[in-house]
Amino acid sequence: MPGLAVNVDHVATLREARKINIPDPVAAAAIVELAGADGVVVHLREDRRHIQDRDVRLLRETIKTKLILEMGATREMIAIALEIKPDLVTLVPEKREELTTEGGLNLHVHKDGVSDAVRALQKGEIPVSIFVDPDPDQIKLAHRIGANCVEIHTGTFCDAESPKNRSEAFEKVVNSAKLAHQLKLGVNAGHGLGYQTIKDFKGLSEIDEFSIGHSIIGRAVFVGLDRAVREMIALIKEL
Ligand code: PXP
Repeated sequence: MPGLAVNVDHVATLREARKINIPDPVAAAAIVELAGADGVVVHLREDRRHIQDRDVRLLRETIKTKLILEMGATREMIAIALEIKPDLVTLVPEKREELTTEGGLNLHVHKDGVSDAVRALQKGEIPVSIFVDPDPDQIKLAHRIGANCVEIHTGTFCDAESPKNRSEAFEKVVNSAKLAHQLKLGVNAGHGLGYQTIKDFKGLSEIDEFSIGHSIIGRAVFVGLDRAVREMIALIKEL
């Protein structure tokens, strides 16, 4: 059964709306773990719009499963990761003006910088995943660079507006997951996944872990975080 890593950035987004100390993503992480998630994801952005350095430090001390740090491949973030030692770093592209990560890292363009970041992090004994679009060239480049894992961007599939676009986008995700698995990369998948779209992954055994944030935190507003996580885990169990 694939695992579930829950992204708690949006809890910090709500806190930062008031610039006070509630709700705390560290408390959210504890609930997420008690509900059965396999890991907790946070994205420490350059502009610190949601997750703060303090959150990452406290999460490192309190998380019992896996702390997954999403970050840009910058010198500042690499230094923070080497100090905090998350269980996995996921390298993502980052633009200040975007609402959320808009696509995978383009390894044709950023190969050298990403390679350096992967090497520096691995030297510090931190495994590295690279967030890539579902494109065989990107998967092969991630493998050549020496990443431990890829996270396949599922956003185009989740946001597709026509059945044709949706099935084409899904086929790309499937082919990329299979290729990454053949290359012996760890295979994660995420972005835009929800309680309906997750069902499409039935039978796709190559995916090791889903990384899901918005839909779970959004549902938690109505049903509570514990139930929102458990309901997603129940759907993943059926895949
Ligand atoms: N994976 C990556 C690399 C992301 O940047 C995000 C969003 O922070 C997610 C997964 C989770 O996406 P969503 O919040 O749409 O579930």
